[in-house]
Order: sequence, then C-alpha cells, then structure tokens
Amino acid sequence: MRKADFVVVGSGVAGLTFALSAAGHGQVVVVTKKDDAESATNMAQGGIAAAMAGTDSFERHVEDTLAAGVGLCNREAVETAIRSGPNAVRRLMEWGARFSTLGDGEELALGREGGHSERRIVHAADMTGEEIERALLTAIDRHPDIVVLEDHVAIALVVGADSRGGRVCAGVHVLDAAAGAIDTVLSGVTVLATGGCGKVYLYTTNPDIASGDGVAMAHRAGVPIKNMEFIQFHPTCLYHPEVKSFLISEAVRGEGGVLRSLSGDRTMKGVHPREDLAPRDVVARAIDSTMKTSGDKHVLLDVTSVDADRVRARFPNIHARLLELGFDMTTEPIPVVPAAHYVCGGVAVDLDCRTSLPGLYAVGEVAHTGMHGANRLASNSLLEAVVFSERAARSAVAGLGDA
Ligand code: SIN
Repeated sequence: MRKADFVVVGSGVAGLTFALSAAGHGQVVVVTKKDDAESATNMAQGGIAAAMAGTDSFERHVEDTLAAGVGLCNREAVETAIRSGPNAVRRLMEWGARFSTLGDGEELALGREGGHSERRIVHAADMTGEEIERALLTAIDRHPDIVVLEDHVAIALVVGADSRGGRVCAGVHVLDAAAGAIDTVLSGVTVLATGGCGKVYLYTTNPDIASGDGVAMAHRAGVPIKNMEFIQFHPTCLYHPEVKSFLISEAVRGEGGVLRSLSGDRTMKGVHPREDLAPRDVVARAIDSTMKTSGDKHVLLDVTSVDADRVRARFPNIHARLLELGFDMTTEPIPVVPAAHYVCGGVAVDLDCRTSLPGLYAVGEVAHTGMHGANRLASNSLLEAVVFSERAARSAVAGLGDA
C-alpha cells in the first residue's frame, strides 16, 4: 500500500496539469495504464483555443462555443474557461511548451477550425498535443514531489466513511500489470483524469486506453454521470484498411481544404453558411448522409488547391504519415470518414471539478463541467483541461489546509 496527498489517475494534459499545480503542496502519485505518454492528448493535432488575436474577443469565443453546444452548454463553465484561455496558454509556455509563431518568432500563429468565427487556435504545427505532453512530462520528471506509476490500471475507488459517517473517497485500488498484483494508493484527494471512452466504438480517433474506466469507477461508487449520449464524431479520420485512429485535423479545412464526394461534388455546399468550417457535428452528419446516399465507403478531403509548401510547413506530421501510406496530400485528395472522437458528457462536477463524493475530483474528458453542451467546439478540450485542472488543484490544496 502507498500513501500520497494527491493521487491522479491518468497522464494526459488534465492529469499532468493537476499534478504540476498541486505538487509543492504535497506528494502526488500519478497512476497511468501504459507508459506515461499514451493518451488522447498525445494524439491531439489541433491545438488550444484562446481569444488572443487583436480582432477577437472573449464574447465571440463564448458565442461560438454556445452555438456549437446547441443550447446545452453551462454558460458559467464556458465563460470561466474562455476568460482564462490566454493565461492557460502562458502557463503551458512557462512549463516549457513551444507553440508555432509568426515570422519574427514573438507572436503566436493562430489557426482556424470548424465553428470558430476567428483564428484562435494556438498550435505546435500539427502535433500540439504531443508538444504539450512532452513539456508537461519533462516538468513532471524534474519535480521531486511527483511519482509516476506506469503500467498501473486503476480498478476501483476506495470509498470509506469520514468522522461523521459520511461517504468519502480515500484513494484508488490499482492493478500493477507488470507484477500481476493489486495495490492500493490511499489519499485524501483522488483525481480522475482517465480521458474518454472512444474505444467502445469500432472506428475512433482515440488511443486504445480510452475505454471509459473513470466513468465506470465513478458510477460504481454512486457518483452521478451526465450527458454520456453526447459522443462527438470527428468528421475526418483517415479511411485506410490497415491504419487505425489517424486523425486528419480540422485545421486542414481551416487552411482551405474542402470535402468532396467521390464524384467530386462539394459535400458542405449549401449545408451550412460556414460550409467546410461548420461545427463538426454538422460536417460529420453531412458526410454520413453523403456516404449513405451514394453507398460510398468514404469521402475525400481535398487540399490540393492550397500552396504545397504551405501544406508541408503547416502539417508536417500529417503530410509525412500520408506519404508513408502512399498518398501525397499536396497533389491528391485524402480518403476520410467520421469517427468517434470525444465524449461531451462524463462524471458530473462543479466549477472546481469536485464530484458529489467528497475527496473525489474529475478533470478533462472524463468530467462533465457542462462546457461542451451537446457538441464540443474544436480545440476547446485542451483549454478546458488546463483551466479546470488548475482550478481543481487550487480547490484540493485549499481543502488540504482544512483537513
Ligand atoms: C483536430 O485537430 O481536428 C482535433 C481538434 C479537437 O478535437 O479539438
């Protein structure tokens, strides 16, 4: 058995942000299923949405988020995240994340994605998640108060009684996969940061570990879960018989890519005023309808009209991976299909990420803050993860003082 002040289950951006924010106030144990870098964060190509352009405003980012969420967002959660967006970006940079900049290297380059009325996506080329994960893991490695347990699978929350007989979360039982043994980490603060559940679908952009464990553990402990029916489908996952889970970022459409049926018709023409940059639920449904009507197994994402040097510079990862598979995206369209991408619902939390079970927090994709409503606006998930994980850490640290 181990003891810690904070135990965090999951090593994506939400869990690592919590760990870094809480470390210095107590001992942190991070439990992770595989090696520490396997997470949905690591696969995120797009970026982190923040209203930082001179022409942009918090109000416009809020309006875009509410519109994408189809009237079901919690406005307070939306405003909380968006007003903290620029600070969240600066925080990630303080921890060492390096984002793409314009010519002189000072000003951040802002990309555009579906549903956004402005360029506001802070990115690291088309490997933003990987860059953030790299920076946070480096900072974690250097921190003397944080221990990472790899190959440890959380299996159940430890639920005990407080001094007045009320239920309280007291840590987590874990399977040490290498040793084949059950261990327990006891802690006054337990944080679920286990990500989503995309792997319950056959076609998904998620890593294999996205199997919904956090929601299952919370549910078994009697903690309310909300809005699990709102599974977001990303419009453009690569259609390839041998490759699973390779996302083609919305940013490709942000730079001028258009969707076409196999007969060459524009999929989004006349469907929505923003055409290829409509919110992603609208785009995914239009693709699905095109495929069902035509009987085709995929549609095409055509970026061949955009300058080839620009495509190679902006999307080095996607371009290189497609070349390995025999496609040159600068000269031929990419076969794509919608795939399960993100769960907008999750473990119900307040604005400090507290669940109904004292001692238990949930952050990132596993949590339901209400920010995303029925459909998440592109690149709002990294934003939500950083802002709310810092808030959760502040709340948990304050609670430590009360204990
Ligand atoms: C993308 O790059 O298209 C994914 C961004 C996101 O899911 O927010």
